Amino acid sequence: MKPVKTAVLVSGGGTNLQAILDSMIFDEIKNCEITAVISSNPNAYALVRAKNANVPTYVVDRASFPNRRTFTDAIIDKLRDLDIELVVLAGFLYVLTPRFVSLFENRVINIHPALIPAFCGDGYYGLHVHEKVLEYGVKLTGATAHFVSEVTDGGPIILQKAVEVKEGDTPEILQRRVMEEAEWQILPKAISLYCEGRLSVEGRIVHIKESSEEKA
Ligand code: GAR
Repeated sequence: MKPVKTAVLVSGGGTNLQAILDSMIFDEIKNCEITAVISSNPNAYALVRAKNANVPTYVVDRASFPNRRTFTDAIIDKLRDLDIELVVLAGFLYVLTPRFVSLFENRVINIHPALIPAFCGDGYYGLHVHEKVLEYGVKLTGATAHFVSEVTDGGPIILQKAVEVKEGDTPEILQRRVMEEAEWQILPKAISLYCEGRLSVEGRIVHIKESSEEKA
């Protein structure tokens, strides 16, 4: 099987990107080639992480496009130039257009820092998600890796992992726990499942096939 050419889209610090790059080193993501990291922000620290791992980087600067359509079209052009099959949104903070979603149907994986369908949708990104979780008083939160559909955070769910909310948590403390205990584990795992050809989508249900090792 040819490795799946994968692009990771980022906007900020890139700790999820780092988790992906580390998992590649330890061979925990099978049959994947990280072909490119594309940032919407020229100053994103994620670009440094990519360069340190010798992954080619590209900037498609949101600030230099008049609207979402032209910005998304520039990303689509870049993905097509690079012959990308799988797109991973790892802390990418912009919603892309329906054209992008339909061109890459069930080929875009997003990581969201909550248990969808709670605490998700427009306005729920980054630290805001954890602020809302603490305001509401839920005792469990977590992260979700899902395919991207036209509905923000509404596509078929691949993997989820729960994380405890603890007394005295601040949004920052909770964000870190959700990253460590959930995001950095399920995002590399979801990428590997895709690249190994173990995911199939039926409506909004994602089925996960056993690995050949599990069968043996
Ligand atoms: C992560 O917590 C990610 O789940 C979240 O932004 C953070 C980016 O951190 N994404 C969203 O909220 C998308 N709706 P990172 O740049 O260190 O990976």
